[in-house]
Amino acid sequence: MKIRKAVIPVAGLGTRFLPATKTIPKEMLPIVDKPSIQYIVEEAVQSGIEQIIFINARGKEAIEDHFDTHIEMETILKNRGNDLLLEEIQKLSRLVQIATIRQKVPLGLGHAILCAKDLVGQEPFAVMLGDDLVDSKVPCIQQLIHIFNEEKASVIALMKVKKEQTSLYGIADATPRKSHERLHDIRALLEKPPVEKAPSNLAIIGRYILTPEIFDQLEEVPPGKGGEIQLTDALVKLLHFQKVLGYCYEGERFDAGDKFGFLEANLHYAFKRPEFKERLYEKISSLYHQLLLSNRL
Ligand code: G1P
Repeated sequence: MKIRKAVIPVAGLGTRFLPATKTIPKEMLPIVDKPSIQYIVEEAVQSGIEQIIFINARGKEAIEDHFDTHIEMETILKNRGNDLLLEEIQKLSRLVQIATIRQKVPLGLGHAILCAKDLVGQEPFAVMLGDDLVDSKVPCIQQLIHIFNEEKASVIALMKVKKEQTSLYGIADATPRKSHERLHDIRALLEKPPVEKAPSNLAIIGRYILTPEIFDQLEEVPPGKGGEIQLTDALVKLLHFQKVLGYCYEGERFDAGDKFGFLEANLHYAFKRPEFKERLYEKISSLYHQLLLSNRL
């Protein structure tokens, strides 16, 4: 069955980015000149997704507005003869069909996904977390879709992290397939375990392909880590009667929900732009030399 829908939870308050996010959704903070959410939606579209389901909250309407038409701006750009920008703005509103559901109470990632139950229906679907940006040759979610099509089972993106970082992620207890070293059979999952209890250093990254049976598990799972309904806990319950796979995707991932990760993402994507590459290189070289000099003093 084709993966047609992607659920993108965007209801979070973005407290890690205050004061920038007091009135602006963190998903709208730009990486170079595009809001981070646009990178996620473009990844979905490039992977063949036909409908985006935002799980949103009060005060964050700017996210869906970004993918809507803006008649006033379009008219102004047209009158000024700024065809390039006009085309870019119009392309955004034609990109993909968008649906929005409100998560009225912040009860966790699992609860956010459960809010999409009726809109998703009885079909497998993608989940993409807005904090995780992945730059790769084949879009990250498309890599997972490929595995889903072969295996007909839920697939989670995995990444190796340093042992001391395991308490920041969902961690998988998994065995790699002999025939395909990136592909893992998952035995168990733990949401943000203390370092000494982490079963491995394979962390869950914010890309999932899920079968619709996950919704029954989400309805029953009790609050877990942080008192929230956790998607990871529902996946553990799903494991009792369905295969769940992990896939170490190819690509470079940035945690755009973290201040340093956000800076890294900006540098990474700016370096890919010919108009910034050289100046950026000069600026970084000069900063590096200043640092060397100041260390010598
Ligand atoms: C969520 C998941 C966690 C996963 C992480 C990836 O946590 O619950 O299992 O490792 O995303 O970014 P969050 O970072 O939203 O707290």
